[in-house]
Amino acid sequence: MNLSISLVSRLFRLLFLFNAVNVLQAFIPLPRFGHNANLINNKIYYFGGKDSNGNVSHDLFYLDLTLTSTPQYLYASNSSKSPEFSLLNYTGDFQGTYLSGSTAWKNSIYAFGGEGAKEGDFKNTFIKIRIDSNPIIIEQLDNTNAPSPRGRLTPVVDKQGKIYFFGGWDGTGSDNTMYIFDSNSATWTTVKSDSAPDMIWGYAAILTDDERILYIGGNHHDKIRYMPFDSIPVFNINTSDWERINTTADIPIAGRVAHVAILDRIYRTNDVIFVSINELKVADKKRVIIYGGERDSSDKTTNGGIVVLDLSTKKFTQPNIEGKRPDYIPYRTTATYFNDYIFVAFGNRNNIPSVEFNILDIYNGTLKWVQMANLTRPPSNGPDNGAGSVVDKPSANVGILIILAIVFGIKNGRFYELEIPI
Ligand SMILES: *[C@@H]1O[C@H](CO)[C@@H](O)[C@H](O)[C@H]1NC(C)=O
Ligand SMILES: *[C@@H]1O[C@H](CO)[C@@H](O)[C@H](O)[C@H]1NC(C)=O
Ligand SMILES: *[C@@H]1O[C@H](CO)[C@@H](O)[C@H](O)[C@H]1NC(C)=O
Ligand SMILES: *[C@@H]1O[C@H](CO)[C@@H](O)[C@H](O)[C@H]1NC(C)=O
Ligand SMILES: *[C@@H]1O[C@H](CO)[C@@H](O)[C@H](O)[C@H]1NC(C)=O
Ligand SMILES: *[C@@H]1O[C@H](CO)[C@@H](O)[C@H](O)[C@H]1NC(C)=O
Ligand SMILES: *[C@@H]1O[C@H](CO)[C@@H](O)[C@H](O)[C@H]1NC(C)=O
Repeated sequence: MNLSISLVSRLFRLLFLFNAVNVLQAFIPLPRFGHNANLINNKIYYFGGKDSNGNVSHDLFYLDLTLTSTPQYLYASNSSKSPEFSLLNYTGDFQGTYLSGSTAWKNSIYAFGGEGAKEGDFKNTFIKIRIDSNPIIIEQLDNTNAPSPRGRLTPVVDKQGKIYFFGGWDGTGSDNTMYIFDSNSATWTTVKSDSAPDMIWGYAAILTDDERILYIGGNHHDKIRYMPFDSIPVFNINTSDWERINTTADIPIAGRVAHVAILDRIYRTNDVIFVSINELKVADKKRVIIYGGERDSSDKTTNGGIVVLDLSTKKFTQPNIEGKRPDYIPYRTTATYFNDYIFVAFGNRNNIPSVEFNILDIYNGTLKWVQMANLTRPPSNGPDNGAGSVVDKPSANVGILIILAIVFGIKNGRFYELEIPI
């Protein structure tokens, strides 16, 4: 007789409960959109956005993902229960951000530009949020050679800590220079190219494993034209020049703006894997998952606004989605990739700031809306969250998890129940 025991999962639960003892008093954020989200060391840091009073928020808070399988995190998308955020104290001059572009490198978040609560009030502040100190330190960085004041841009960080800023909305739409900030030397350089696309804003950007940046969708500077999805501008980091990829689609994908995109690598090997240390794995398939946004009326997607671009076939499809989907499609939301889940937080719901929090499980090629209570995978320390954040220091717990993973064996990043003969 075999007794099936999910021993590993129980051990993880114990670890999480142990962590939960340290939880700070939960913070309930105001609804917001146009905010920022960055993953560092198993925590998603949120800041900024336009809140439900119409103010540009200057609070900074986080969600600790190592706690997500404890019962207190039970969360349904339409219930009054919400994930437990923790408010952080900081020092430094921080006026808040709205529609700014941010990314994380090592233990810092870099955020540039944005707009004030009033239309057309463009910013060029450039800040570094150092999360490795208590209180958090917010530094103003030199923006002399940074882009001119603007918002609605998505920076992307490469594997060396260089951050690429392109486009955005500055009221003119005429600057198609690539601005590159090297976080190691704290210096700016620029790349101008005849092959660069026009200035675009409200696009989604992702870094591929071969060091290309895809700029997906968004609006053109005439403010009404949606960028087509069949020809995607691509910045090649190696050559510092622009290319395009042509795509096909099995459904008409209209343009969209203020959407989010995540790079998903799908692993289908039978090798033992040590908790998402991605270098040890070779992805069978890579896809870009695109969600949300304000969409052109000709959009024919019917599954709640998700389209997927297969990076090998260059084809967009409208995949089947399981689970109870959110009852609206947000724009100016954020999507953070962590351990095969996408955490979609806040956003604009018909011009009303939302406090909604939804999770898409993208494990092994599936797409399924789930609740906090259904998160069963252990925290991992993946080097790339798809939004450009890079995790630097593995936490002590990850060390323990890796040891557990080695002891019990993890296949395809998911635990297999141990068959214990009795
Ligand atoms: C936020 O908005 C409210 C309502 O408009 C206003 O009374 C309040 O002073 C604002 N708070 C800040 C910090 O600007
Ligand atoms: C969500 O909850 C609110 C308040 O209980 C209710 O009015 C609304 O109809 C619910 N929405 C859905 C989609 O269930
Ligand atoms: C923030 O500062 C307040 C007042 O000093 C303190 O009570 C609180 O514990 C601090 N929070 C954190 C997360 O350190
Ligand atoms: C860029 O260079 C890296 C390392 O030299 C290589 O792995 C990658 O394939 C290159 N990417 C492109 C798009 O040429
Ligand atoms: C993309 O399509 C255009 C126009 O149809 C064509 O000129 C171009 O060569 C194609 N590019 C690639 C990389 O296939
Ligand atoms: C992953 O997906 C493939 C194809 O759908 C399936 O054959 C395989 O069993 C799945 N693996 C796991 C561990 O779920
Ligand atoms: C979450 O898990 C519970 C208990 O297994 C199940 O009833 C529920 O349908 C799950 N929800 C989702 C969205 O998968």
